[in-house]
Amino acid sequence: MSKIILDVDTGVDDALAIIYGIESKKIDLLGITTVSGNVPLHMTERNTRKVLRLIGREDIKVYPGADRPLIREPEYEFRVHGTDGIGNALDDMKIENQTEEQFAADFIIEQAKKYKGDLTLIMVGPVTNLALALRKEPKIADWINEVIIMGGLVSMAGKGNKLPNSEFNIFADAEAASIVFHSGIEVTLVSLDVTLQTYMKLEHIEKLKGTKYYDFVLNSTKVFRAFSEKQYGTNGCALHDPLTIGYFLDPSYIETKKYFVDVETVSPLNYGQTICDFRNLWKKEPNVNICLNVDAERFIDDFIETLKQA
Ligand code: BDR
Ligand code: CA
Repeated sequence: MSKIILDVDTGVDDALAIIYGIESKKIDLLGITTVSGNVPLHMTERNTRKVLRLIGREDIKVYPGADRPLIREPEYEFRVHGTDGIGNALDDMKIENQTEEQFAADFIIEQAKKYKGDLTLIMVGPVTNLALALRKEPKIADWINEVIIMGGLVSMAGKGNKLPNSEFNIFADAEAASIVFHSGIEVTLVSLDVTLQTYMKLEHIEKLKGTKYYDFVLNSTKVFRAFSEKQYGTNGCALHDPLTIGYFLDPSYIETKKYFVDVETVSPLNYGQTICDFRNLWKKEPNVNICLNVDAERFIDDFIETLKQA
């Protein structure tokens, strides 16, 4: 089984992804790296460690990474994730101060070298840490088996969640995404095209009643669900980041196809847009596996069942 590094900007749905991945007992996790994204770095790190405590896996190490995008200033998403990033659901939980000293990008390089050809990165925030790692040690492009990224949109023009044509994670550091897409690493992009079909609604959450994660899932998603209702007319939490884990656990959830994909880094109208050359107009080698269809119901069932059985 491939070794995994999970890179997160925890985040409500990042928290759910961490729980899902660990509780699936099917991932060989080397460590979790954190990045600035939904909320500032120190909050994504704290939230990650609180979630690990909730799971009962404080033995998993958390490596703090980039505290800002490569070039631009950070833009956070408090509207979606609440003032602390996880809907204030774990306000009362105390955690010890046990920050790892190794920088996330260095951890990625070290592990890629150690597990050549046997390391997969699952990235559910801006991809700044991997871009930094690639700049410092370009050889990791040959050593990393695959990177599965939650980000972008390719056939839903006008239906982005940050700009009309841009998704949050790619918008949050488009220059980093550009480095990763052109690195030669095998990239799969789990985009809004499929994640927006995976709304976890109250009826799903109620299935967790009486189980370990019911309170956390109900409370942490409250702000997120209210935002979705106001903005998109659905009271639910799109399982963006958990679906990215789901794709690793069972690729048959999603139909993918490889095309040439590039990222806009200049235009103020479209900064962070992921452009897929479906018609091969640019005559470039395909570099990104994009997602065409998702078996949303089967995935959501597995997500809920996994949390239920914990
Ligand atoms: C992505 O952006 C973040 O707000 C979520 O955690 C997810 O990774 C969705 O666009
Ligand atoms: Ca995220």
